[in-house]
Amino acid sequence: MTNGNNYYANGNEVQLFEQAYRQRLPVMLTGPTGCGKTRLVEHMGTLLGRPVVTISCHDDLTSSDLVGRFIVTGGDVTWTDGPLTRAVKAGAICYLDEVVEARHDSLAVLHSLTDHRRTLYLDRAGEVVHAPETFMLVASYNPAYRSSLKELKPSFRQRFVTLPMRYLPPEREAEVIVAEAGIGLPTARRLVRCATAIRTADEAFHFEPPSTRVLVTAALLVAAGASELEAAQACVLAPLSSDGAIAEGLREVAAASLADADNSNPHR
Ligand SMILES: Nc1ncnc2c1ncn2[C@@H]1O[C@H](COP(=O)(O)OP(=O)(O)O)[C@@H](O)[C@H]1O
Ligand SMILES: [Mg+2]
Repeated sequence: MTNGNNYYANGNEVQLFEQAYRQRLPVMLTGPTGCGKTRLVEHMGTLLGRPVVTISCHDDLTSSDLVGRFIVTGGDVTWTDGPLTRAVKAGAICYLDEVVEARHDSLAVLHSLTDHRRTLYLDRAGEVVHAPETFMLVASYNPAYRSSLKELKPSFRQRFVTLPMRYLPPEREAEVIVAEAGIGLPTARRLVRCATAIRTADEAFHFEPPSTRVLVTAALLVAAGASELEAAQACVLAPLSSDGAIAEGLREVAAASLADADNSNPHR
């Protein structure tokens, strides 16, 4: 039912990504969670015929986790490349997901890769790796997510071609949901209307808005027999807020936007 890695473009991002690749420039994708960043990278990997190596960044990620380390096996000490080094050597697209989560000192190893040198210095192994033409560094982060105190340094951000991503326009987002979950267009439209109402609600600054991802998840529940309201409750509303008053207000917003659904007959 789901159709793999179809990507619905939201502007000129596919073209700019490809142009950056041709010029061997690193790309930074910014935007809210679930808006299609990972999907775009997978799509570009397919389009450009390059494998994608994804590294999920977190705060105890060290530069050794990225580039590699000496590992003792039996009596031998051998160097083992980390995922970044493997990606460089393979001429892959290396995708650093949520790069803002990584510590600044871990990211320093990227500097020589993101400028004209396109070189990775493995100081401990005494190795210098020149990136092949096809190697591309892509990173993502969500600038609106302020519950973490972290920010990327402006000097780091300026090393990248930045492609800001946002949710698709409603009709297009509904098409994605139809394609991903195999439900009818009227249901997809109502789910999008529900999300749009919440995204634009006054309380919206309190939380991460409902993403395309949660709409796809809700649609999958509907496809399995849930009513639209049940699915919206479980996938769109419940993850938003633990504050009872806000949740109640949003429930009404959601119910109103789903009003013309026939919730007595969920099987369609
Ligand atoms: N532009 C898009 N084209 C196709 N599917 C999309 C798009 N945006 C979001 N989706 C759907 O939403 C899900 C989450 O998208 P993803 O790329 O993982 O988001 P992000 O990496 O920005 O958090 C995808 O698995 C897909 O089902
Ligand atoms: Mg992602």
